[in-house]
Amino acid sequence: MWRGERRTRILIVDDESGFRESLARRLEKRGAVINQAGNGLDALASLAQEPVDVVLLDVRMPGMDGLAVLERIRQAHPDTEIILITGNVNTNEGVAGIKAGAFDYLTKPIEIEHLIGKIRQAFDKLVRSQEQAREERFRVRMEAQLIAADRLAALGTLSAGTAHEINNPLAIINDSAGWLKSRAAKDESIAPAMRKDLDLALEKIETSVKRARRITHQLLSFARSADTMTKEFNLSELAVEVVELTRKTAAECQAEVSAACEVKDMRVWSDPYQVRQVLINLVSNGLQAVAPGGMVEIIITGNEKDAIAVVRDNGPGIPPENLARIFEPFFTTKPPGEGTGLGLSVSRGIIEKLGGQIKVDSKLGKGTIFSVSIPRKPIQSTDKQTEDISR
Ligand SMILES: Nc1ncnc2c1ncn2[C@@H]1O[C@H](COP(=O)(O)OP(=O)(O)OP(=O)(O)O)[C@@H](O)[C@H]1O
Ligand SMILES: [Mg+2]
Repeated sequence: MWRGERRTRILIVDDESGFRESLARRLEKRGAVINQAGNGLDALASLAQEPVDVVLLDVRMPGMDGLAVLERIRQAHPDTEIILITGNVNTNEGVAGIKAGAFDYLTKPIEIEHLIGKIRQAFDKLVRSQEQAREERFRVRMEAQLIAADRLAALGTLSAGTAHEINNPLAIINDSAGWLKSRAAKDESIAPAMRKDLDLALEKIETSVKRARRITHQLLSFARSADTMTKEFNLSELAVEVVELTRKTAAECQAEVSAACEVKDMRVWSDPYQVRQVLINLVSNGLQAVAPGGMVEIIITGNEKDAIAVVRDNGPGIPPENLARIFEPFFTTKPPGEGTGLGLSVSRGIIEKLGGQIKVDSKLGKGTIFSVSIPRKPIQSTDKQTEDISR
């Protein structure tokens, strides 16, 4: 009784040891793996230890009767099929058993070929429903991914337009604030108290413009990820550059940032500017998460096929309930005004466009590890530039 790679596992439950033994021997000869139990409780204990595909269950047993055992098995092991074995005088029990979820019933004396046929049917049903469950899980996962991809695509289109539109008035606000500032500095008629208020208001305008710029910058980098610019670069050198670029932020956070390149020459055909943006986002997150004295490290490794940049920190870690949400656009736990919540969603968008993957692993109280892998060779694309290079 083989199906694919696997032998059918059967538990025979019957209080008549002679019947049990002889059935076990005959089924074993046909290639099945057999366990035995002499009563209901032993059967449940055996299943808890070692699940099987099919249970052959005697209905009439001392102690817990077969139908009660059936119910308990259905509850605890819904993936197991049960064939009842009844005395020939009482088919009512068999019918009641089917109502309670048994696959089928057979009456004693058992005709072995008939029994084997039933076991095969039960096993096929089991495999089919396992396949269906697997397909269902796959479908649900694909649907969730498609919804996420749709949302990101829509966000990309929207963000390009919005960011451009907002950048222009921002520039005007910034210039005007600058003009007001220099104008006020020259105006001696302004009373000291008034000057203080004026400076404060202008400062608020400046910091708000900076914040709005950060948002448009992230949105534009996301929108730009639609047209990638492929060239050859050394990811290890890029990591060192990112350390230099984030040193100031690190100092502000009183934290250390460093790069450890296991492979000094990790050549990649990809978009260096976008990869740099992703690493900066990840390092900034790490620096913002760690306590003073904390560290953020970029580690570059990889193999023939993929280059891998790991960004790890010894910050507080990400609570499990947030872990599933951190890549959502606008998800942030930072105080209002401090985080846009776009860093990670933009980073993921970029890396997926480049044909790579971004993964996270975090332990509360220990820290967080982001791992970015990108293919070292350009992905197949209709993008002209990529085609030229791969020729
Ligand atoms: N290294 C990290 N350690 C702990 N939490 C993190 C880490 N990286 C990300 N997070 C969590 O994920 C959230 C989303 O990160 P994301 O970069 O998308 O936005 P943000 O950092 O909040 O905003 P912005 O990137 O604009 O500064 C953060 O608010 C934080 O809660
Ligand atoms: Mg961030």
